[in-house]
Amino acid sequence: MREKIVAANWKMNKTLPEAIELVQAITFGLTQNRVECTVVIAPPFLYMERLVNETRGLVDIAAQNCCSRLKGAYTGEVSANMIVSVGAKYCIVGHSERRQLYAETADVLEAKLQRCYEVDLTPIFCIGENHAERSENRHFDVVAKQLEYVLFNFSAEEVAKTVIAYEPVWAIGTGLTASPEQAQEMHAFIRQQIAAKFGQELADETSILYGGSCNAQNAAGLFAQQDIDGGLIGGASLIADDFLKICNELR
Ligand code: PGA
Repeated sequence: MREKIVAANWKMNKTLPEAIELVQAITFGLTQNRVECTVVIAPPFLYMERLVNETRGLVDIAAQNCCSRLKGAYTGEVSANMIVSVGAKYCIVGHSERRQLYAETADVLEAKLQRCYEVDLTPIFCIGENHAERSENRHFDVVAKQLEYVLFNFSAEEVAKTVIAYEPVWAIGTGLTASPEQAQEMHAFIRQQIAAKFGQELADETSILYGGSCNAQNAAGLFAQQDIDGGLIGGASLIADDFLKICNELR
């Protein structure tokens, strides 16, 4: 179902006391001022269960990653099933940092999506081109292939359970944001690709979030675009007031 979503990706930041302080400030803000979107927080694995309890349903909790395998001898890994068992609802899959720094390939990402669908964990599937690909004008082609090689191997029912995040790699953590026009153009393209493969109805029902240096200043312009259904927020999600302001911009 197409939903308006603002999701915080905390990455590897915050100790437990800091995480609790931040989440309490966010939940307090949400009780003072109702927002019109689903708010999701992806903390480090260690704090997920604690934050499920701390947020009392005001916020949905996400994992930042999951293992491509179901269970077994995979030291250091966390399964989709475990994530669901602590009350989390979403899982980020294919973030560009995972693709780049941990060499996650299309095959690995496909297996991770499969694990999420098996246990009813909603994947937030990240796609996006890097700086060289955009400067060579290959960004549409790159994004089309990221969809085709991974997400489009699944059925319409599975794709319908997926949130997509368009995150141009050149905009992540750099302070460079895609302009609202650049982002809208790509979001519309992603929707068209889904329509061509699965039909317009499914395309119209898919939530597509923007991520990459989205902040309290630029969120309104991005969220005003018709194919942008919300944001995946890194740096600006670590400051309660900024994150709340971003949530308020999504109407
Ligand atoms: P950023 O990160 O907002 O710090 O650019 C976004 C993301 O990586 O999801």
